[in-house]
Amino acid sequence: MSAELTETASQLLKELAGIEAKGAAELREASSEKELEERRVRYLGRKARLTQILRSLSSLSDADRKIIGKDGNRIKALLEGLLEGKLAEQGAKEEKQPEIDLTLPGRSLWKGKKHVVLSVLERIEEIFYGMGFSIFLGPDVEDDYHNFEALNIPSHHPARESHDTFFVEGGLLMRTHTSPVQIRAMKSMKPPVRMIFPGRVYRNEASDATHTPEFYQVEGLYVDSQVSLGDLKGTLEEFAREMFRRDIQTRFRPSHFPFTEPSGEMDVICIHCDGKGCPVCKGSGWLEILGCGMVHPNVLRNVGYDPLSVSGYAFGMGVERVAMLKYKVNDMRLFYENDIRFLRQEETL
Ligand code: PHE
Repeated sequence: MSAELTETASQLLKELAGIEAKGAAELREASSEKELEERRVRYLGRKARLTQILRSLSSLSDADRKIIGKDGNRIKALLEGLLEGKLAEQGAKEEKQPEIDLTLPGRSLWKGKKHVVLSVLERIEEIFYGMGFSIFLGPDVEDDYHNFEALNIPSHHPARESHDTFFVEGGLLMRTHTSPVQIRAMKSMKPPVRMIFPGRVYRNEASDATHTPEFYQVEGLYVDSQVSLGDLKGTLEEFAREMFRRDIQTRFRPSHFPFTEPSGEMDVICIHCDGKGCPVCKGSGWLEILGCGMVHPNVLRNVGYDPLSVSGYAFGMGVERVAMLKYKVNDMRLFYENDIRFLRQEETL
């Protein structure tokens, strides 16, 4: 067959064979985008030898044109194919994702959970509800009468100083304790009253490890014809056993509140050192958890009850304080800093 070729055609075929071999090899070996582009220009660009040959086909004889055209176009298609393959390969390399390991366990999603203060508040409510107390709520913004006056704390009374009060326009204030709700409850019904009053209270004082300007209290009140200090002690001891543990030791100490007489405070044995004495209980072995006492006759009179025919007890506790004791939290501010590591901890209520 070569015998039939003209000199020009066989020259060109040789040349084309060289372009094919070199071009294919160089395109295959191009290792970067830049190299690939250089080689594209060299073998397939406007000034490439292959392009020139194909462009000058018209100057060949019919027979030569047929042979050279066929071979030239075959090589062009081959090189273009290689180029495209390389381009696709490089693109894929750039977009390459890390491989997915289907055998790995899935990532679990964090679910929202109750705040520990809310869990403890609900537990306290549940315990007293189980002992026959119902729940009654009062307003956070109070007047002087309910927060102080009716609770036997007249305007000159020094107890007002210990209640650092946030005052609100119009002579109102943010309640400094939940005791004003006692007054509202007793004014709205006749004895017997057996209720708890949970809610947020406000004190204008700086935060530290045992104080925050807003905190929760649960107040309790039981007024009936023959309520005694013994009832108060029994109820609160049972509460402590339910809240902490069955064999928890408690003790009552005398104290003073204007709205109760006699007044006391209940301590539980320090759950950190079991009464031996440690920094948390300041060496005493005991931790105070609530204030309590028998409702003062003046308070009963203020709500229209007759202190000669009814008597009652009241108590009030800080919810964060109970939560701190129960979960051994040593700084009250942790409850409100919203550090996700603190909030995510599982409680064991
Ligand atoms: N109201 C008191 C306080 O905030 C607690 C208390 C309530 C004490 C009821 C006795 C009886 O400190």
